[in-house]
Amino acid sequence: MAQALDETRLNDFVGKMLGDLGGAMSVPTARLGFRLGLFDALAKGPASAGELAARAGGLHERYVREWSLAQSANGFINYDPASETFSISPEQAMVFCVEDSPVYLRGAFELIAAMIEAEAKVEECFRNGRGVRWGDHAGCLFCATGAFFRPGYVNSIVQQWIPSLNGVEDVLRKGGTVADVGCGVGFSTLLMAEAFPNSNFIGFDFHQPSVEEARRHAASHGLSDRVRFEVAAAKEITQTGFDLITMYDCLHDMGDPAGCAAHMRRILASGGTWMVVEPNAADTPIANMNPVGRMFYNASTMICVPTSLDQEVGAAMGAQAGEAKLTQVIRSGGFTEIRRATEGPFNMVLEAR
Ligand SMILES: C[S@@+](CC[C@H](N)C(=O)[O-])C[C@H]1O[C@@H](n2cnc3c(N)ncnc32)[C@H](O)[C@@H]1O
Repeated sequence: MAQALDETRLNDFVGKMLGDLGGAMSVPTARLGFRLGLFDALAKGPASAGELAARAGGLHERYVREWSLAQSANGFINYDPASETFSISPEQAMVFCVEDSPVYLRGAFELIAAMIEAEAKVEECFRNGRGVRWGDHAGCLFCATGAFFRPGYVNSIVQQWIPSLNGVEDVLRKGGTVADVGCGVGFSTLLMAEAFPNSNFIGFDFHQPSVEEARRHAASHGLSDRVRFEVAAAKEITQTGFDLITMYDCLHDMGDPAGCAAHMRRILASGGTWMVVEPNAADTPIANMNPVGRMFYNASTMICVPTSLDQEVGAAMGAQAGEAKLTQVIRSGGFTEIRRATEGPFNMVLEAR
């Protein structure tokens, strides 16, 4: 017998959808706000639409007014009807203006746009079972990914993640050799290099444009003497003897994570440490049915699974692999001591020796 329609449940569900669709529709307008400097201009103080348009460098007032009302309806900024002015609170500014805040979310908006841009390619993969090359997803998936993860890295790698590893901070202070594998545009590599001036760093990634961008970042930070970036797939790295290998949010993207684990074991110095940073997912799908899991499952469908399926083996672990599966993969590479060294709301940090 067909289930009877429950009006209350329907209304609740449509209410939820309204909120979700409003959030989705905010993506292009929020991105415009970042690019046109509107959020930053508002952080200088409350403004009418005309004042804000002028402050942002002479934009058209009519557009800025509509944008401001849209952001107020989004709850991203505030509208005062009495004075017809807009403002941004310190908390809202942490999300929209403060680039080094742990909750600066510009990259998340960029990532969503990149996912939409590659939609047709992923749709085709659903039919043919193939994957999408990392560099073929969207015009700048790699920039969006770098921006998405950067706030977490700026606030965690040096302060929390490396100190959570057994003895590694000491080694890096004295002078060690570090490989940052799957380094993307190199934010993680450079943050470590800035913090540990006696150590040397090599970032590896198989995506040439990411490596070129990383090299530009290194040069602009004056770090090119101690930091090198090289194009190489994880399993093709020829250098050996690393005291520390880091992998930030990329093991699950690789086609052959078990093969990569075995190769990391080969290229580590004896007594070296492999730090695997992965999304902080639970081991069962049902336990990932929460706001963070929702984001990662969506990103994983559009980005991580197609990226892995494009490569040899095509393990397609997905962003929500969870600690148990990750540990199994790491162990298969010959690591015997594996533990969750620390975690944050979005990431878990596994230490393998
Ligand atoms: C989600 S991004 C993370 C990038 C960077 N670690 C970060 O956190 O910003 C995944 C990265 O893994 C790289 N990647 C995927 N498979 C790879 C492989 N087999 N060998 C080397 N790099 C790989 C991609 O090019 C991409 O830069």
